[in-house]
Amino acid sequence: MTAAIGGGRLVVDGLEKHYELDGAEVPVVKGVTFTIEPGKFYSLLGPSGCGKTTTLRCVAGLEASNGGSISLDGTVLSTGTRHVSPDKRDVGMVFQNYAIWPHMTVFQNAVFPLQVGGGKLPKREARQRAMEALELVQLDAFADRPATALSGGQQQRLALARALAHRPSLLLLDEPLSNLDAKLRDTMRNELRRLQQDLGITALYVTHDQSEALSMSDRVAVMNGGRIVQEATPRELYYRPADRFVADFVGRVNMIPAVVRERGAGGALGLEAFGTRLEAAEESGSAGAGLAIGEEVTITFRPESVRWHETAPDRPNVVPGRVVRVEFLGEIVEYEVEIVHGDAAAGVVVGRGAPLDSPATGSACFIELAPHACRVLAS
Ligand SMILES: Nc1ncnc2c1ncn2[C@@H]1O[C@H](COP(=O)(O)OP(=O)(O)OP(=O)(O)O)[C@@H](O)[C@H]1O
Ligand SMILES: [Mg+2]
Repeated sequence: MTAAIGGGRLVVDGLEKHYELDGAEVPVVKGVTFTIEPGKFYSLLGPSGCGKTTTLRCVAGLEASNGGSISLDGTVLSTGTRHVSPDKRDVGMVFQNYAIWPHMTVFQNAVFPLQVGGGKLPKREARQRAMEALELVQLDAFADRPATALSGGQQQRLALARALAHRPSLLLLDEPLSNLDAKLRDTMRNELRRLQQDLGITALYVTHDQSEALSMSDRVAVMNGGRIVQEATPRELYYRPADRFVADFVGRVNMIPAVVRERGAGGALGLEAFGTRLEAAEESGSAGAGLAIGEEVTITFRPESVRWHETAPDRPNVVPGRVVRVEFLGEIVEYEVEIVHGDAAAGVVVGRGAPLDSPATGSACFIELAPHACRVLAS
């Protein structure tokens, strides 16, 4: 099965889901809307309890929605009143705990879903498809093993093979890598992404791990409290977060209180922070045009955008400070600089850089925040 499966186009529009809790209806998915184009890898990223799994289960048909609609390649799968059962949806799902059947062999695990329910296949075809799916994840040599005699990574692959065996046009994955150790997780990330691209299958992936979502996805939707708060490419999300929640959730970030002092063309801004003047460039996507002079705002920038110097370079956005913490993290060093204004401490900036070029604790230095790296958000 090296030939592409091909991917469907998923449209979720205004999805609503309530759970009944102590006699009261509690909304957990509140008007979630997104489209996944065929063959794209799309992630729902958000903190625990924000409604990711519930959204995924509604798409799979394991939950009936209370409103909105879900359609795949133009076929309506559910509305508030209509519900196509899971086995009649062209969808494969990998669960967080793999849900592998321990009393079966690897092969039996892969073939079983093809022999039951609405999508039942003739025996020979089912066996052939199951073997193809096992080959795809490189488990064909293990077909006769008990499923319990597989490593964590192999079980994860088996769960994937089972989801792919009936050649769905949409693959749903609910935190499929969270049970694996860090190294294996990295390997599986790459494998999963490669397989998804080779097959051309559309994938909807759920995770609370930002680096997973950023590294694998074509697009990411950040969810909070049952809603999508921003949908963008990984880069856009990281460098142009729409609000403080997204900025903070998607990686480490500095947030500095500031006041707008000048507005330039487009989105360029002159700001006051740390008792001094800073600039945010237009290309940082700051909402310059929408902010009033005198308005209190937050400047956000990533630690790796911070540069430190022993002597002040003749450029904008250079502030004096003192290094108060240096932490060696392996491939990078993280340092904390207390910004000094006059004699007083005016704030703290966290920076990250290469270990061979790190400041010393206690030393005086100058911190440079490039104007294009400073994104300004309404407070
Ligand atoms: N069967 C249920 N009955 C009542 N409430 C539920 C049920 N399932 C989930 N919830 C609630 O709905 C909300 C969303 O749950 P969901 O499982 O979708 O979150 P999640 O984003 O997947 O979180 P996690 O990252 O922890 O898996 C939570 O507050 C949860 O407690
Ligand atoms: Mg979940």
